[in-house]
Amino acid sequence: MKREKIADVLKSEKVGSDVLVKGWVRAFRSNRFIQINDGSSINNIQAVIDFENFEEQILKKITVASAVAVKGKLVESQGSGQRVEIQVEEVEVLGEAHPDDVQKTVMQPKKHSMEFLREQAHLRFRTNTFGAVFRIRHAVAYAIHKYFNDEGFYYLHTPIITGSDAEGAGEMFRVTTLDPVNPPIDENNEVAYKEDFFGKPVNLTVSGQLEAELGALALGQVYTFGPTFRAENSNTSRHLAEFWMIEPEVAFNDLTDNMNLTEDFLKYIVDYVLNNCEDDLKFLDQREAKEEQSKPANQRNELSLVERLKFVSDNDFKRLTYTEAINVLRNSKPYKKNKFQYDVEWGIDLQSEHERYLVEKEFKCPVILSDYPSKIKAFYMRQNDDEKTVAAMDVLFPGIGEIVGGSQREERLDVLKRKCGDFNIPEDELWWYLDTRRFGTVPHAGFGLGFERMVMFVTGMTNIRDVIPFPRTPQNAEF
Ligand code: 4AD
Ligand code: MG
Repeated sequence: MKREKIADVLKSEKVGSDVLVKGWVRAFRSNRFIQINDGSSINNIQAVIDFENFEEQILKKITVASAVAVKGKLVESQGSGQRVEIQVEEVEVLGEAHPDDVQKTVMQPKKHSMEFLREQAHLRFRTNTFGAVFRIRHAVAYAIHKYFNDEGFYYLHTPIITGSDAEGAGEMFRVTTLDPVNPPIDENNEVAYKEDFFGKPVNLTVSGQLEAELGALALGQVYTFGPTFRAENSNTSRHLAEFWMIEPEVAFNDLTDNMNLTEDFLKYIVDYVLNNCEDDLKFLDQREAKEEQSKPANQRNELSLVERLKFVSDNDFKRLTYTEAINVLRNSKPYKKNKFQYDVEWGIDLQSEHERYLVEKEFKCPVILSDYPSKIKAFYMRQNDDEKTVAAMDVLFPGIGEIVGGSQREERLDVLKRKCGDFNIPEDELWWYLDTRRFGTVPHAGFGLGFERMVMFVTGMTNIRDVIPFPRTPQNAEF
């Protein structure tokens, strides 16, 4: 007999016929009701076992976290809470789980702290919360590919090992095969990278954008979706050393086109999750509502998770320039009352307290800030006519802060070369990038969406470590 997935059985109309399911035991009550989950749904199937018909030896092995195969008749459930259940005819314990061991893990059926769950990242998949989060993570990834495919973009695989520092922030992980204790030394007494695997220093990529631009300037519209690495020592709830980024790049787009694409894309993802992840979303919504009750009233979310998603889907994002945002901040109550930790004046890099004020207090909706000072943004962003600002845009989301960073790109060769000089970027290393501006250069634009930040938003999880299967953060690369 063929195994059926529990998600399908729960929806099935086959009451009265035999089914076979396999999964892990979530609970076994009164020696009679087994709750089985196989990962296909947040919902368990209830298997009802008549203990008189089974050997004591077998029943003893049906414990929380053990794996079982259950065959029996699908019947309408007598109890409340489920529509159908299985009347067990045959049961096989596929893998035992010793209750004493289970006691020490996240698999014991009770509430655990997020910290405890993180220590057991290899087991936390078995919990309801992480099952829901990772099913939704998959749905978001799928929605992203679907959106771009439907819009006629090509998925471009950009390199993970690269010689360039696209963002110019110098926060890169070196990739080398040289002996770390005794590296070869050159005539200047420096490490002889000529002898390294690639004959030069290389790193894990911080962004696929520069390569994506090459693709866009031939294929028209492309996107990347890959792992990205940043060796920034930020131990925050929104930073990972290894995260995934989506970077669309479109020839002939200007900054306004770029904003329109971003907004449409983000709304599409939110709608996709609302329409395709109902059970998981409902679970996370209720989970959050419970958590909220233990918070002081002024720290609670005004909207529930599902309400927040609907709000983003239904409302226009607020668009304003960096300069306008600085004015809003300087006229704000917290500024006047000296409540911001960091000062606000034109030219500063906005701190997360400022971004959160704009999104959560002032506008209460997603915000697109544009036209930032050139000095605080990357070299490749297009210089505006005022010579002080660039055609940059950041999208700020409630509870998250910056979720997208993007810009129109500098397509003018002379300006771009000047910017390389200003930012101390050696032109000879970027010869291949500058070439795109030599052969039919055109205006173009793109952005980068932090995948995990988007997953945080749609799941309501408040720590980025809880939306990636195996988080990499400073001092932590277990599993
Ligand atoms: O703003 P960033 O640095 O932009 C770029 O890398 C551009 N090359 C994108 C482009 O225009 N093609 O990063 C883009 C997004 C951020 O807005 C944030 O959501 C996410 O990537 N991000 C991180 N997510 C998790 N951990 C980190 N350390 C992150 N750094 C950036
Ligand atoms: Mg950014």
